[in-house]
Amino acid sequence: MTGTAQIEACSIDRKFGTFSALSGVSLSLGEGEFLSLLGPSGSGKSTFLSIIGGYDAPTSGKLLFEGRDITATPAKERGFGMVFQGYALFPHLTVAENIAFPLKVQKRPRAAIRDRVAEMVEMTGLSGHEKKKPAALSGGQQQRVALARALAYEPRVLLLDEPFSALDRNLRTQMQEELRRLHRDLGTTFVFVTHDQEEALALSSRIAIFNHGQLQQIGRPEEIYEAPANRFTAEFLGDINILTLDSAGGGICGTPIVLPGNAVPTGGHLAMRPEHMRLAAGSDGNQLPVRLRDRVYLGPKSRLMLETRGGEELMLYVENDALLPQLAAGSELHVAWDARHSFFL
Ligand SMILES: Nc1ncnc2c1ncn2[C@@H]1O[C@H](COP(=O)(O)OP(=O)(O)OP(=O)(O)O)[C@@H](O)[C@H]1O
Ligand SMILES: [Mg+2]
Repeated sequence: MTGTAQIEACSIDRKFGTFSALSGVSLSLGEGEFLSLLGPSGSGKSTFLSIIGGYDAPTSGKLLFEGRDITATPAKERGFGMVFQGYALFPHLTVAENIAFPLKVQKRPRAAIRDRVAEMVEMTGLSGHEKKKPAALSGGQQQRVALARALAYEPRVLLLDEPFSALDRNLRTQMQEELRRLHRDLGTTFVFVTHDQEEALALSSRIAIFNHGQLQQIGRPEEIYEAPANRFTAEFLGDINILTLDSAGGGICGTPIVLPGNAVPTGGHLAMRPEHMRLAAGSDGNQLPVRLRDRVYLGPKSRLMLETRGGEELMLYVENDALLPQLAAGSELHVAWDARHSFFL
């Protein structure tokens, strides 16, 4: 992040009765960032987004916009764009009328509204659909109307709550590309809720990971993927191998291991992503003896399910053109990895 914060959340708590939906969430956001809020169902993502938008208020804590306290400012005075989960289009209004709606509420001149609607229709690829009602649109088209409506009055901040969750995979990828383009062209700050890890990695300048109403980690996609702060983040972001270190000597089941930073720990866990592991060839990297338990064919690659001498499971992927016929269940193999791709948990 560069410069001063545009949005700052300071120790946000949100209680529903005795239940804490959010506890002590603090983060700051620079202008033009694309922040994703990522976490499992019920982790507090929508609650946090609603608090930023002014649709809900924190039980305690403060929200600042450009240094001003807006904690008590109502949603419509904040003027942030919001795309709600399920789009929330007006069913009796046409596409053009839906997009025009917030501009009419703002009492903009009729000609200005017409021009802006035309511009938004063009920008979101809705040309030719202006006179249709939402029921006559596909899911992806409805999604575009919701985006166009939220962007129509040029908000400084756009909040999106799982906007693509109802779309099939292809359409979702296409909408993600369009959202990236819009973000790049507009320079608007985006706060985007998703529970899809890949989507968050693909779109965001930074990702905030939530669990049980607490912020677990915030950082650039590579940062939190390659150097997760804790086990939850490590496991939530993708496949991870976690091996128990011997209580003395820093090895695994007696095999000496080179550890990150040449540390000499006693016990604890060492973690690494499967894509950083390979079947050992010659004397490269750390080598650990394993037994092949199962091999899952996935088209271009196979997933190998392996077991250490201590009975811990790990997995790695091999390209199928490199897959040797001797890789049958029960095979004794070695896996290797570079110490710099492993981390302690
Ligand atoms: N109005 C409410 N009254 C009581 N509890 C609520 C209310 N709104 C949210 N909660 C609770 O707060 C927690 C967080 O909810 P929230 O909707 O923020 O989760 P989420 O991360 O958006 O989940 P999902 O991915 O399922 O949308 C949940 O346990 C939810 O049941
Ligand atoms: Mg939600």
